[in-house]
Amino acid sequence: MEDWRHAGFGLYLHWPFCQSKCPYCDFNSHVAGQVDQSRWLTAFESEIDRVGALTEGRLLNTVFFGGGTPSLMEPALVQGILDRIRATWTLANDVEITLEANPGSVEAARFASYARAGVNRVSLGVQSLDATDLRRLGRMHSVDEARAAIAIAQATFDRVSIDLIYARQDQTLPAWRDELHRALDFGTSHLSLYQLTIEDGTVFGQMHAKKLLRGLPVEDLAADMFELTQEVTRTAGRPAYEVSNHARPGDESRHNLIYWRMGDYAGIGPGAHGRITLPDRRLATEAERAPALWLKKALQAPGLAERTEILGNDSRATEYLMFALRLREGASLSRYTALAGMPLPRTAIDELIGLGLLTEADDRIQTSETGVMMLNGVLRCLLADRRSGD
Ligand SMILES: C[S@@+](CC[C@H](N)C(=O)[O-])C[C@H]1O[C@@H](n2cnc3c(N)ncnc32)[C@H](O)[C@@H]1O
Ligand code: SF4
Repeated sequence: MEDWRHAGFGLYLHWPFCQSKCPYCDFNSHVAGQVDQSRWLTAFESEIDRVGALTEGRLLNTVFFGGGTPSLMEPALVQGILDRIRATWTLANDVEITLEANPGSVEAARFASYARAGVNRVSLGVQSLDATDLRRLGRMHSVDEARAAIAIAQATFDRVSIDLIYARQDQTLPAWRDELHRALDFGTSHLSLYQLTIEDGTVFGQMHAKKLLRGLPVEDLAADMFELTQEVTRTAGRPAYEVSNHARPGDESRHNLIYWRMGDYAGIGPGAHGRITLPDRRLATEAERAPALWLKKALQAPGLAERTEILGNDSRATEYLMFALRLREGASLSRYTALAGMPLPRTAIDELIGLGLLTEADDRIQTSETGVMMLNGVLRCLLADRRSGD
């Protein structure tokens, strides 16, 4: 069996525009005046045709509209893209079609049209249920708007996920516990709960460098918040299945599982990444990041907007381990061996098990709750022999 078939095939589409730029965000997202969405449709269609020819005959398991703010896409654009996708691949019976949405009232009004176009899952960027913190995070929506958007989403789509950011300025452990309980009370089957990361090149990054971002939690408090998050979500029946992702068993994001289980995915749109296995090689693809340039190149000639690199066996095996150890289900030792051409060092595995950072059952190793917080160290230890042998 080709390795990617362990996990399936998905399609990621990137919409790079937002109404405003949030101070913490380093995603490829831009504020633009007028966007000619019909030109974008033509560009997406032509890229779908190109990738479709490379992957002819495949069953498509998932589609993900990410951003930026895909809920700023006109429903006709989403419909047009999904029509082209349906004409290109056979869709799995249980195909998952997700769209990331900001929880403003304008976007909620579009949900029904997205559902008619074929979207069956939304991921809502709620970020916080505290009015002051929403303002500090530079968000355009209020807590009430978020509540309303969640209710509309739940009435419209089969599956709804919400994103929250914790470890925020001046946030206490009891306040996070309370907020998390309120978030779980909405009853969504999936939650993405991210620790605030201060990224270079963002407004928060600049403020942090000048010591102007006060009240961020010290490391111990952030670790306590992570542990609390694990415990509260587990008790509420939506345990972590990945570092930051929690779901009712069976309601995990199938699209993200394709990344983490190292399946194949095509990435279309500015800055999108992909992994495509061809009969004789596995390709890593990366699209041009700048929206205007991507649009121009995608309209000009097939493939012009994309760089490709062939992935060697070492990179494939390392990538597999890096992603699989983020998952509660862990990594298959035999799959790693098949990819790397040699097994992971037994001594390193035993040492990490002895330290309580890994567990092992049958053919799989998993990071423990402490191990997942020290993932980089765990990977360094497992891959040390490989590096010294390179
Ligand atoms: C592509 S983004 C956003 C989707 C949508 N535009 C929104 O903001 O609601 C996906 C998620 O990443 C998370 N995120 C972005 N930047 C982050 C940061 N610096 N630290 C933690 N989480 C972050 C947010 O929760 C966000 O909803
Ligand atoms: S967090 Fe979302 S809305 Fe804010 S800039 Fe990033 S992608 Fe845009």
